[in-house]
Amino acid sequence: MAEPRTAKLTFDGKEIELPILSPTAGPDVLDIRKLYAQGDVFTYDPGFTSTAACDSTITFIDGGKGELLHRGYPIDQLAEKSHYLEVCYLLLYGELPSAAALEKFETTITQHTMLHEQMGNFFRGFRRDAHPMAVMVGVVGAMSAFYHDSTDINDPRQREIASHRLIAKMPTIAAWAYKYTIGQPFVYPRNDLDYASNFLRMCFAVPAEEYHVDPVLARAMDRIFTLHADHEQNASTSTVRLASSSGANPFACIAAGIACLWGPAHGGANQACLEMLKEIGSPDRIPEFIARAKDKDDPFRLMGFGHRVYKNFDPRATVMKQSADEVLDLLGVENNPILATAKELEQAALADPYFSEKKLFPNVDFYSGIILEAMGFPTSMFTPIFALSRTVGWISQWKEQLEDPQMKIGRPRQLYLGDTARDYTEIESR
Ligand code: SDX
Repeated sequence: MAEPRTAKLTFDGKEIELPILSPTAGPDVLDIRKLYAQGDVFTYDPGFTSTAACDSTITFIDGGKGELLHRGYPIDQLAEKSHYLEVCYLLLYGELPSAAALEKFETTITQHTMLHEQMGNFFRGFRRDAHPMAVMVGVVGAMSAFYHDSTDINDPRQREIASHRLIAKMPTIAAWAYKYTIGQPFVYPRNDLDYASNFLRMCFAVPAEEYHVDPVLARAMDRIFTLHADHEQNASTSTVRLASSSGANPFACIAAGIACLWGPAHGGANQACLEMLKEIGSPDRIPEFIARAKDKDDPFRLMGFGHRVYKNFDPRATVMKQSADEVLDLLGVENNPILATAKELEQAALADPYFSEKKLFPNVDFYSGIILEAMGFPTSMFTPIFALSRTVGWISQWKEQLEDPQMKIGRPRQLYLGDTARDYTEIESR
């Protein structure tokens, strides 16, 4: 039996031995759980650039290679050969399903797509110009008040029902949030449509006429769902894990994840990226924006570029770019000026030493907005679609954490730089 590997830390006359944990892939991990008890010191890592907050078997990213695995399967293979509900099953249960298991899972999801009729009133309480993400945060959080029979996090069967309900109902919630903002009636889900077709129909059908889903658009929509399904311990997933560690119910935890995803540095980047491409307007203004992105004194960043983990192409962006060409060709907008600007911008940035030296490449958000806009979605629906897709990742990581016997409430410490103790002074003497 090989000796357990350790790292020695020596300071102030102390020597602390820290175990080194070996992963199945990725960097070794220094186990510092006993550091404070043995050394009376904290570690310091704002933004968690070097910190593993948990162990997981769901998703692995090799940032150097630009590789993304879900339960070991590469994202490009899943995007080409699988479909979103099968990927949901894989993320939730750890293995690709048999034909019978997949049919049972898809039937279960299909039969949970409707919302409690009373929830419709929730949407009507918002202003019509509310951002759909604000509506989604509110309505998903409110699910705790409607689905009490799947809020007991200690009951595995209730955890599974809550997982299925969230995966099934998010397209309905996102579509109704959109319909409400454009003043059109809600469209109910249909059990004879696949997941992506159902979502497109709930978004774009009107009572006045039949709506037929284009199978190419449905496939592109399903692929976008798959490409956004999960992504290790990103900010919103870490938010869901931290919320879950206090014992909060699944709907409250997912609402917290939606709130975090909304930020432009995270899931809000697809909306911000398309707005940036529109502001650039044409390829001849690209140098001006590249210069701004490089200017330390300018807070502007190239939206859809860069990533905390990927220091190579985001493999999702590569698939998304291919999908953009397909969808725009189908829609007869292959000479889309925004796509032309995006491609020129990508080439110009990748040729610029600032971006290549900092290993800044296009990420998942760079091309997704172009496809979604071509499909008819307003920019305000881009992040809700990301949230819809990521729900399975959030809930799979939530489930994994609850099943971990080592799980305890997350409670980070701090480097305190404030005032030391001092006495209260009366107002007369201030
Ligand atoms: C997502 O974590 C995930 O996995 C997220 C996600 C998922 O699926 O869950 O992949 C989804 O959020 C993708 C990222 C979408 N966000 C954007 O496209 C917004 C633009 N990107 C940047 O804000 C930034 O790249 C981040 C937030 C994505 C990553 O930031 P980091 O890892 O904290 O990197 P950093 O800010 O320390 O930047 C390192 C350097 C800095 O320059 P220096 O201070 O070293 O001189 O690179 C520069 C930054 O100024 N830089 C950029 C830049 N991104 C980083 N400069 C210009 N444009 C950019 N986009």
